[in-house]
Amino acid sequence: MFTPQPIGFVSSPFKDTKSIPKGIGAQHPEEGELRILPEFEAGLTDIEGYSHLIVLWAFDRSDGFDLMVTPPTDSRAHGLFTTRSPRRPNPIALTVVELLGRDGGSLRVRGIDMLDGTPILDIKPYLSNVPAEKLRRGWLGEAEARKG
Ligand SMILES: C[S@@+](CC[C@H](N)C(=O)[O-])C[C@H]1O[C@@H](n2cnc3c(N)ncnc32)[C@H](O)[C@@H]1O
Repeated sequence: MFTPQPIGFVSSPFKDTKSIPKGIGAQHPEEGELRILPEFEAGLTDIEGYSHLIVLWAFDRSDGFDLMVTPPTDSRAHGLFTTRSPRRPNPIALTVVELLGRDGGSLRVRGIDMLDGTPILDIKPYLSNVPAEKLRRGWLGEAEARKG
């Protein structure tokens, strides 16, 4: 289809996966930088007007996949495509971050859950348009309710 090429790389405080919060109620308040390569910097024009961004990135340090997964948020196995497991047929990740500021090709953001040096595939503005009352959270909602 196409060969992905990084548009930039993440500068993150996380050097290993163990240091990234996981499980029910895990928060990701950490700040980091999205360092966009000079040849793509013009594509950031007008980005300051957005409070939140969708970052598409590559799980560049995961291998293979299983179609049933027991995630850190539950003791039960679930279908891979109902989870955010890093081990996927196409190792693509999505994180919504808060945009704190921009300095040229560098975006300072809050809410990162990726390792230092992670390749960034794309950035899009986040425009939430699903009303809370219409959102169903699947097995995760049930696991959260069980844990109280
Ligand atoms: C559960 S995934 C969720 C990622 C993203 N928010 C998503 O929903 O697609 C986050 C985990 O991926 C792992 N991870 C982070 N950066 C990675 C990388 N560059 N390569 C492989 N695994 C990574 C860490 O274990 C981290 O806790």
